[in-house]
Amino acid sequence: MTQEKFTPISANNCRKENTKFSMISVYDYPTAKFAEEAGINSLLVGDSLAMTVLGHQDTISLTVEEMLHHVKAVSKASKKSMVVADMPFMSYQVSPQQAVHNAGRFLKEGRADAVKIEGGYQMSETVKAIFSAGIPIIAHIGLTPQSSGQLGGLKVQGNTLESAEKLLNDAISLQDAGAFSILMECIPSKIASIIHKKLHVPTISYGSGPDLDAQGLVGADILGLFDLFLPKFSKRYSEVGKEIKSSFNKFHKEVISKKFPYLENQYNVSDSVLKDFLKKIKKI
Ligand code: KIV
Repeated sequence: MTQEKFTPISANNCRKENTKFSMISVYDYPTAKFAEEAGINSLLVGDSLAMTVLGHQDTISLTVEEMLHHVKAVSKASKKSMVVADMPFMSYQVSPQQAVHNAGRFLKEGRADAVKIEGGYQMSETVKAIFSAGIPIIAHIGLTPQSSGQLGGLKVQGNTLESAEKLLNDAISLQDAGAFSILMECIPSKIASIIHKKLHVPTISYGSGPDLDAQGLVGADILGLFDLFLPKFSKRYSEVGKEIKSSFNKFHKEVISKKFPYLENQYNVSDSVLKDFLKKIKKI
């Protein structure tokens, strides 16, 4: 269990000391509280919430206001875990000024500890602007779902010479611009490992092999709360979704069979109040 607040400096220490840290994408107060109590070092309020919680078909429609709503809930539950707000599509791409403004809202209003943006070297000016405003920032490369249209879908990245070279250049450029960590999603393990070794900042793997400093997964995948698909890199540790369905179904059956509510689920009134009440309504 984490004893002190996990910060970008803690992540950097993990890199220096060759120890691992954990990250989970979560979106609400109770799950964040359980994650922190379970010892998870960092909570990413990921824009995956658009699909796993809000039922959108992708992450594109998510707004800053929706993300803020969830960041506030996760921050309230987190005393020790580092909270990272994922910046929604079009909340940072328009200009570095727009990015700084919105990143600032996630810290001031959402009480996040850091922000994350997607994109390669072309986001370097934006990372620099956010870093210069004193806001800790993680740069997300590889499979970047907000630009899946350009990537040709939700596919593994870095599996050709050109794209592996591009990812390395992206990572170095974003690190040099001030990102305190590089998150790599869906990159072949050996390519991600080489990129990791060329960097000095801590690296986070979502499906990019074992050699990075942190491992991250989407909480809804771990718990079996999102059952439309499970990425190859993920692991289902429990079937909470099935448990929910089974409990709701048991309740439904007890309602239609008139078993629920049981005596212990009902409130009592004293006999004298009941008697007086019946007497009174007879007069009405
Ligand atoms: O939204 C999210 O949960 C993410 C991770 C998959 C990195 O961006």
